[in-house]
Amino acid sequence: KSHSIPGFCGVGYGDSECGIGSSSSKLLIKGGTVVNAHHQEIADVYVEDGIIVSVQPNIMVGDDVTVLDATGKYIMPGGIDPHTHLAMEFMGTETIDDFFSGQAAALAGGTTMHIDFVIPVNGSLTAGYESYTQKAKKSCMDYGFHMAVTKWDEVVARDMEIMVKDKGINSFKFFLAYKGSLMINDELLLEAFKKCKSLGALAMVHAENGDAVAEGQKRMIELGITGPEGHPLSRPPVLEGEATARAIRLAGFINTPLYIVHVMSIDAMEEIAKAQKLGQKVIGEPVTSGLVLDDSKLWDPDFTTAAKYVMSPPIRKLGHGKALQAALSTGVLQLVGTDHCTFNSTQKAFGIDDFRKIPNGVNGIEERMHVVWDLMVESGQISVTDYVRITSAECARIFNIYPRKGAILAGSDADIIILNPNSSVEISAKSHHSRTDTNVYEGLKMKGKVEVTIAGGRVVWENDELKVIPGSGRYIKMSPFNYLFSGISKADAAYLSSLKAPVRRFRDQS
Ligand code: URP
Ligand code: ZN
Ligand code: ZN
Ligand code: ZN
Repeated sequence: KSHSIPGFCGVGYGDSECGIGSSSSKLLIKGGTVVNAHHQEIADVYVEDGIIVSVQPNIMVGDDVTVLDATGKYIMPGGIDPHTHLAMEFMGTETIDDFFSGQAAALAGGTTMHIDFVIPVNGSLTAGYESYTQKAKKSCMDYGFHMAVTKWDEVVARDMEIMVKDKGINSFKFFLAYKGSLMINDELLLEAFKKCKSLGALAMVHAENGDAVAEGQKRMIELGITGPEGHPLSRPPVLEGEATARAIRLAGFINTPLYIVHVMSIDAMEEIAKAQKLGQKVIGEPVTSGLVLDDSKLWDPDFTTAAKYVMSPPIRKLGHGKALQAALSTGVLQLVGTDHCTFNSTQKAFGIDDFRKIPNGVNGIEERMHVVWDLMVESGQISVTDYVRITSAECARIFNIYPRKGAILAGSDADIIILNPNSSVEISAKSHHSRTDTNVYEGLKMKGKVEVTIAGGRVVWENDELKVIPGSGRYIKMSPFNYLFSGISKADAAYLSSLKAPVRRFRDQS
């Protein structure tokens, strides 16, 4: 029997001939090395009804349990991708991967949860939330939401509160770029930071100076540079460094934690490192493309090839990626996202005569776990436990869902991968599971292979075949006041008393 989508078993479409996975809700993973963010040991993992029941050596079970042998392999928490855009309307079109195809791709690559950005509808958060709730109904894995804030008034402020208190959203993204569409100014950013702080919600920033980007774009067009190479040339690292520094300083001024999304340059990374050294709570998220690629492909004479690499902030010159890897290995950057935001070649061609019209975004949801393993673990830059931390556990901690997610512990959700360090994968658009027709990681050979993915206690990826069910993914509510907020009120009190002392002295003198 043939499959409409390569590698898809498609049980959700009434085809269940593959015999992979199991209708049994009991699973035993035997003999592997169980890896958590702080510890690894050889142990078995027993799962029942979607929950990890027990993690210990030599678990004995009856014949009603499906047994998976993981000898010589790693048993790890499924990846959590903190940064995706599925079914997003952007730059006059909509991303080609929706909540089903994007998640299916994720599962094939060992990611079992993602957090997607709800984009408001005409500035309305509640309308945006409703829209994304509909889009996400076809989900085949667990997901959560961040929410973008693109304008400011009393209604938006009230809706932020509703989102945090009733809807399970604990983070908001602010765009300092995309002038004329998503961009906000500093006045709004300050109001929003204050609101985030009072709600215990994490502020996230897309850090590029949108006014300067517009100026850079004008410059390129005046010079007659209209091809994809105009994209990186128009928005150099200095504009990312400036916006990162500004967002950090304003968050410091309000005294609220900050999360910088898609850190692409040394310039931005160094601003984060500097603030951290001064004690500020700043999280830095590099993305797969920024870690492993460089901007050379944007000069490819073939438009389709070059345009597939267009994302913002741009993929930087050789050297930035290596520095971002180092920052990840030393803890300056804490977790890896993808910014998965796919447009096919036809969509990318909207900008054939003008790079400003190329929809921004690259793939990565399926590739992240493999790329990070090869780049960081195989290269010897980080340990296997660190791998779990930067691909899963730290994301769960930051968004307050640890240890339900991000850990192989009794009581945690059974979102589990089995990775074979002695196998490998070659990335190609021919074999990937995303709907897009190109892949920015085309041809990369990565050591280490996710051989089995278990999501919600079900084997969904095994023997290179997916067995996914639309509608089986659950919305994961995330509560406010993560660990980054723990010292905030004490620090505020100390700041206030430090202000009162000189004021009193001044009064006494006059
Ligand atoms: O190019 C990008 N990054 N597209 C997605 C939107 C965003 O800025 O995250
Ligand atoms: Zn099949
Ligand atoms: Zn962004
Ligand atoms: Zn993004």
